[in-house]
Amino acid sequence: MDPTVINPTILAQQLLKPEGELGEKIGEFLVERNASGMTFTFEHLYLKPSDHVLEIGFGPGEAIAEAVKQTPQGFVAGIDFSDVMLRMAEKRNHEAIADGHVALTLGDASRLPYKDNTFDVVFAMNVFHFWQEPLRELAECRRVLKTNGRILFYFNHHSSWMDGLGDTGVFIAYEPSDVEKILTEAGFHDVGSLMGAVEKDGKCFLGWGVK
Ligand SMILES: C[S@@+](CC[C@H](N)C(=O)[O-])C[C@H]1O[C@@H](n2cnc3c(N)ncnc32)[C@H](O)[C@@H]1O
Repeated sequence: MDPTVINPTILAQQLLKPEGELGEKIGEFLVERNASGMTFTFEHLYLKPSDHVLEIGFGPGEAIAEAVKQTPQGFVAGIDFSDVMLRMAEKRNHEAIADGHVALTLGDASRLPYKDNTFDVVFAMNVFHFWQEPLRELAECRRVLKTNGRILFYFNHHSSWMDGLGDTGVFIAYEPSDVEKILTEAGFHDVGSLMGAVEKDGKCFLGWGVK
């Protein structure tokens, strides 16, 4: 699929919440486009084999599959509010779901359906920039993290977004320092960020913190 031929407003809505047949194509596109960003993310997640991990906005489920590989004695949960993405991610991870290693849920990051102090690591790739009031979602992330649990967000930097996407009002264009400030305001400590460059996506960055 060539996403540059899609009207930017429709593309932005589909990236926010993939729906219908076009949503499935967007899911396939995300697998290809975000592969190197995923490698960058996992290089800095430092997962331990027994970690309990939550991915928010798992999309087609590639990062869920990688988290499963890296947590042979752990557990991986995922939440996404697109039923098209849930179906794709379930297909990709059906064995791990059957084994009880993975649980994928349809739901919204602003109301996480998990108990307090459940996860060692919470992460999301290309999702934070959709949150219009990020302190609300971050309070939920913090609630479900264990004390000393880590949070990490991956962003394609706005300089590498496709033409017109930044003008749709769907995305918020952050710099790493903005994300550090918001994470600190949300109550995380040892906050940091790292700029990177990935093959297909141009500039990208990570922002992280500890509960
Ligand atoms: C741009 S896609 C990124 C998918 C995947 N993380 C990746 O990097 O390839 C954003 C995904 O986050 C999901 N999403 C966005 N906002 C969400 C929210 N508030 N709660 C749950 N899922 C959300 C969308 O449905 C979509 O699957």
